[in-house]
Amino acid sequence: MAHLFLPWLLLAVSAQTVVTQPPTKAVFELKVHSFNSSRIICRQSQDCRIFFRMCLKHSQSVINPEPPCTYGNASTDALSADPSSISESAPMKVNVSFKWPGSFSLILEAWITDSSGLKSTGDQNNLLSRVASLHRQTVGDQWSQHVHQGNQSKLGFSYRVVCIENYHGEDCSAYCRPRNDTFGHFHCDSKGSRHCLEGWSGQYCTDPICAGGCGEDRGICESPGKCKCHEGWEGKHCDMCKRHPGCLHGTCQQPWQCNCKEGWGGLYCNQGGFDHGAGWPVRLTCTVTPPPPAAGGFLQSFSRKMVQVLPYEESAQSKHDVWVDFYEEHRTEQQVQTDHTMSAFIP
Ligand SMILES: *[C@@H]1O[C@H](CO)[C@@H](O)[C@H](O)[C@H]1NC(C)=O
Ligand SMILES: *[C@@H]1O[C@H](CO)[C@@H](O)[C@H](O)[C@H]1NC(C)=O
Ligand SMILES: *[C@@H]1O[C@H](CO)[C@@H](O)[C@H](O)[C@H]1NC(C)=O
Ligand SMILES: *[C@@H]1O[C@H](CO)[C@@H](O)[C@H](O)[C@H]1NC(C)=O
Ligand SMILES: *[C@@H]1O[C@H](CO)[C@@H](O)[C@H](O)[C@H]1NC(C)=O
Repeated sequence: MAHLFLPWLLLAVSAQTVVTQPPTKAVFELKVHSFNSSRIICRQSQDCRIFFRMCLKHSQSVINPEPPCTYGNASTDALSADPSSISESAPMKVNVSFKWPGSFSLILEAWITDSSGLKSTGDQNNLLSRVASLHRQTVGDQWSQHVHQGNQSKLGFSYRVVCIENYHGEDCSAYCRPRNDTFGHFHCDSKGSRHCLEGWSGQYCTDPICAGGCGEDRGICESPGKCKCHEGWEGKHCDMCKRHPGCLHGTCQQPWQCNCKEGWGGLYCNQGGFDHGAGWPVRLTCTVTPPPPAAGGFLQSFSRKMVQVLPYEESAQSKHDVWVDFYEEHRTEQQVQTDHTMSAFIP
């Protein structure tokens, strides 16, 4: 059996050794649109190249261009120095894994590639220009445009800060991933608040809504509009008790009861007044007038009456006139007995 657990052990160990970096919440993007410099850019060769580098730091009153770039750094590819290749260069990006603070120091530099054509910031002679300034930028899709006019150069650029997917809010720190599974049913608004999908409620939108309820303690709402009834209850709202198994012509107020409808008896309410085989239960109302009792004894009376039979089942509409045989016992002392209500199977 041990070999079965090995992969899990390995997985657990490797998961622990992974250095957990804070996740990226936002991206700072900067595009250089234009750059020209009065300095002779390319002394050495015709096809020398330039690149731009940005260094983001926390907000400082006096900006120190020295490393480290506390918020991050990035550079463009080596570009040919003509205006179109600069304006078409891809934006530089810095991943932001902290709450976006809104203000920052920006150091933007233009460099010439070194003699072997590589991007290097080692030789200060290759530094064409440097802009260091304090900025404020709120999160959003809009690019904020800037032109920096220096003594010997002019630099046009724009930047923006956008939250990455599932991060929201003014500082991109509100995490909310829309989902629709056992862990939640919601979408997210621009502030990162959860909004439950229809039919769900609760902090994580994991509580299904059953309009009309599930009969208080008689069931639980399992999914929107679907009650799962506890034992003994049924129905859309679990408000109908289950009758005793086998209960035929009975009802219940509490689970497992079998309270016989009028005209029925027995544990399963399957027994009618007369056991004449197949038939339907009827309610008979008739008047029996027994013959005068014999003195000092019991009388067994027999009568055959024409009675009207009202179908017991509400669905049955018709009335029937049938002959029913009555067997009655009367004590001699008793007076005339009338108005019997009886149940019978009519064959
Ligand atoms: C620039 O960023 C890289 C990681 O992307 C980092 O290793 C390096 O130290 C940063 N440079 C400065 C000057 O902060
Ligand atoms: C920045 O984040 C994105 C997405 O999280 C990732 O693909 C990319 O490699 C990251 N870049 C850096 C320089 O860390
Ligand atoms: C810009 O030029 C002025 C005078 O021409 C000079 O005093 C200043 O130091 C220069 N600034 C830079 C950053 O070169
Ligand atoms: C930039 O180039 C334009 C036209 O190419 C020119 O008019 C302008 O004076 C230049 N600016 C600088 C700072 O070199
Ligand atoms: C959520 O999931 C259920 C079941 O998978 C599906 O019927 C429903 O359309 C989904 N809702 C949304 C908004 O995706």
